[in-house]
Amino acid sequence: MRAGAGAIGVLTGGGDCPGLNAAIRAVTKTAITDYGMRVVGFRNGFEGLVEGEARMLSFNDVSGILTLGGTILGTTNRADPFRYRRRGAPAGAFEDLSGRALLNARRRGICALVCIGGDGTLAIAGRLGGKGLPCVGVPKTIDNDLPETEVSIGFHSAVTVVAEAIDRLHTTAESHHRVMVIEVMGRYAGWIALCGGVAGGGDVILLPEIPYRMDVVCDVVRRRFRRGRRFSIVVVAEGAHPKGGGMVVDRTVADSPDPVRLGGIGKAVAAGIEEGTGLEARVTVLGHLQRGGTPTPVDRLLATRLGEEAVRLAAAGRFNRMAAYRNGTVTSSPFNRVLGRIRKVPRRSPLIRAARSVGTSFGA
Ligand code: F6P
Repeated sequence: MRAGAGAIGVLTGGGDCPGLNAAIRAVTKTAITDYGMRVVGFRNGFEGLVEGEARMLSFNDVSGILTLGGTILGTTNRADPFRYRRRGAPAGAFEDLSGRALLNARRRGICALVCIGGDGTLAIAGRLGGKGLPCVGVPKTIDNDLPETEVSIGFHSAVTVVAEAIDRLHTTAESHHRVMVIEVMGRYAGWIALCGGVAGGGDVILLPEIPYRMDVVCDVVRRRFRRGRRFSIVVVAEGAHPKGGGMVVDRTVADSPDPVRLGGIGKAVAAGIEEGTGLEARVTVLGHLQRGGTPTPVDRLLATRLGEEAVRLAAAGRFNRMAAYRNGTVTSSPFNRVLGRIRKVPRRSPLIRAARSVGTSFGA
């Protein structure tokens, strides 16, 4: 990209998380400082692109937002230009407004669009690229389930929240001789439960990748009780499920590209523990606390590096790619290697092995 040539667009899509603003700041400052470009921020993900709702971002606009949670641009996990429900339109009335999205981008002189998001956002970016709007991606998801990158923006902050919550629950568990069950997010991958659970010293960690057996979980709790540890910490991923059983769905969200919202497995596990051991079990669902607050320094650094890389990719004309972090360095991968699959916890993960070595059970 020539210095001063056109504008670069930026948007955040999908669920919010800490580190989005740090990424917006990195994209904006890199584009202005190194390429002399104008930067246009689209509001509320692809909704802003379809509706033509955007604002210019100056150097000062993104000054001071490094540590801010959420996203100054707003976001949504519902707006897909290819299957769009206009405001006020009846439920289920979808239209393909991708042409309008492209027109709005052209009107603002956008020569590249940086999409900060997870699988849903990047899938849309890939399709827009196919229609002629050059896009690059920045990986964001607390679930950490995007392929081709070892870590995504938001994950480290979510794990920190989980570990701190477990620390706090430990005191009540120990004082009251209770079993504390903590349900955490992560959708179909167990990264948050695994990393947060190990960091918090969970006694049992249940992951979607390892279907559990209730008798094994109860056995762990009973054995701990017998050796004088009259409490247990059980960390449950929202996508965990018993062997031969299904995941627990809390609700379905109409209009969302992924309408299933998981939730409720913690309650089922606590009930199973009470029934199987006779001990009192209490449930804490951490929910959206895991996506709130200031980003950890690790997320700030990651967002800064990935945001910068995204602009460099765009400047080099390397579109349809996602900035990524692998082997201690920033790199990138084409969308077609990222999309259509999720990165799950490998059953042979070294962290699972280490956890087992220190006595953690995975309920199987
Ligand atoms: O993908 C991020 C995530 O927080 C998941 O961990 C969780 O299952 C889902 O989003 C919750 O979505 P919502 O914010 O729509 O309730």
